[in-house]
Amino acid sequence: MPLFHRKSSPTLLQDKIDLIDLAFSRFDLHSFADLGGVWGVEGGYTFHALEKHDVSAAALVDTHPTEVVKNRARKFAQLRLIKGNFGDETIAREVGDVDAVFLFDVLLHQVAPDWNRVLEIYSHQTRCFIIYNQQWIGSERTVRLLELGEEEYFKNVPHEPTDGPYNGLFQKLEEKHPDHDRRWRDVHHIWQWGITDSDLTATIESLGFKLEFTKNCGRMGDLANFENHAFVFSK
Ligand SMILES: C[S@@+](CC[C@H](N)C(=O)[O-])C[C@H]1O[C@@H](n2cnc3c(N)ncnc32)[C@H](O)[C@@H]1O
Repeated sequence: MPLFHRKSSPTLLQDKIDLIDLAFSRFDLHSFADLGGVWGVEGGYTFHALEKHDVSAAALVDTHPTEVVKNRARKFAQLRLIKGNFGDETIAREVGDVDAVFLFDVLLHQVAPDWNRVLEIYSHQTRCFIIYNQQWIGSERTVRLLELGEEEYFKNVPHEPTDGPYNGLFQKLEEKHPDHDRRWRDVHHIWQWGITDSDLTATIESLGFKLEFTKNCGRMGDLANFENHAFVFSK
């Protein structure tokens, strides 16, 4: 059973809160960008960092900001809400330089640019990556989940073939998504990657960062091939 942080929101995971607190206290962080911080948590990790730490500038980026987030954001003059795809170079420029980048449950969704390119983009504008991701333990190498084929894909993701965006997914992969200027196969709404720890670590280390902290936060639901892993990298 995951532990939940009950003070600021019932849906925040204690492991992610602990990760933020550890990184802020150890690495003298005063600015951050929370990339993809909205769905299911209404910016909760952003607001936790703003309320608990000495933050002079913050950006919360998501394609789908909500009214709840917009209203709460008004209380924090140092917070910018940015609507858009954080993989776009223009959005990355808008985010600008920050001490830390949060990537919570988002790396596995990134395609075009892929997860490793997203890390490269932000490596030029941050000195600390704070990451919590569903990591692939099913094979030695990172896999693009769609390439497993429909049957294996649905054995490996926490969704039924009839759930929302997953409905008819393999039949519409080449069709354009109604909200994004890209095909269904490339949207971040679906599970895209099984990223291994060794590929994640090698990628970030090649960008000049050092692994400072890691924790295995346990099995991802009842999925045999995914575990929740937390990381802090700094340079
Ligand atoms: C699985 S939720 C994770 C929410 C939160 N970070 C957490 O830890 O619970 C993914 C969120 O990231 C957003 N997202 C994913 N990829 C994105 C991208 N490339 N650009 C902007 N938002 C993105 C989605 O819209 C959604 O709000």
